[in-house]
Amino acid sequence: MINFVPISQDNTQQVFRFAHISDPHLSSLKDVPWRELLNKRILGYLSWRLSRRHIHRRDILKALIEDLDSRQAQHLLISGDLTHIGTPIECQQVKNWLNELGPASDISVIPGNHDAYIKTDKSQTTDLWASYMDGDAESKAAKMVFPSLRQRGPVAIIGVSSAVPTAPFFATGRIGNKQLELLAQILKQTREQGLFRIIAIHHGPLVDSNKFRKRLIDSERFRSVINAHGAELILHGHGHYPVSDILITADAEIPVIGVASASLLSSSKIKRAGYNVYDVNASSSDWKLQMQSFGYDQGTDKFLTREEKEFVLPRLQNSDISGQTL
Ligand SMILES: [Fe+2]
Ligand SMILES: [Fe+2]
Repeated sequence: MINFVPISQDNTQQVFRFAHISDPHLSSLKDVPWRELLNKRILGYLSWRLSRRHIHRRDILKALIEDLDSRQAQHLLISGDLTHIGTPIECQQVKNWLNELGPASDISVIPGNHDAYIKTDKSQTTDLWASYMDGDAESKAAKMVFPSLRQRGPVAIIGVSSAVPTAPFFATGRIGNKQLELLAQILKQTREQGLFRIIAIHHGPLVDSNKFRKRLIDSERFRSVINAHGAELILHGHGHYPVSDILITADAEIPVIGVASASLLSSSKIKRAGYNVYDVNASSSDWKLQMQSFGYDQGTDKFLTREEKEFVLPRLQNSDISGQTL
């Protein structure tokens, strides 16, 4: 269980600290019945059998969570691909893991393409994580609806799902028009509330973030929504390596940051398991965002600091917003 630092309830909190992990691929397919594999899942199963079960390591994920626990975070964001092929057994394993990790109010989850591997009855799969995925307003919802919106201290955590089933050998993502329309409304509303808006999405939304077969199909429409309504930070996973970009819009430069897989043992140092910790610091005129990146060091079996970055982002005042057409 992660010891989350409580968030002050009186709106006086100036610094909000949260951690971001992604792509733990933590499930085992050992007990998945064969009847579940008579479709595209057989390819994912073979990939797990031959490779993935050896490189996505539960012991490394455990070490990462222990290290993260020492960082005094107030919230944890998990941006998808918790399973390998999204079977009911795997989703139950993930639910058990989440329950051990901490309360749903302190952990926000969005799905990845591996969690939506084929078209399926979601009540048996990712809806098992509903309490970790739903927004503040839908806490009793029987069915997950994205985008989700959670407010924690000065921050709005906006979960966008790009997880859709795809043809064999493809790992593309799609947000869809309905979600993009709702996203525009949420960004407008949270901007008027003066919140620091974090968008969590599994697929990297920049053109060069992914290979063709792994890309976000409607990334251009996503970027035009961001261009119109802004955001302060966009976080993603999917690539299994750390990446830091900037999305330049009409009136801001928005950090777009991808995190490594939370469990990967790779011969490439940079691809080895890692996680990021962010401090969002509000002053009267701007936001200061500090990022610390930690990566797995195989020699010491510990997580060491990989990178530190700082961003200063404009903080919109009410006078900037009133009368403005968004
Ligand atoms: Fe992944
Ligand atoms: Fe993925």
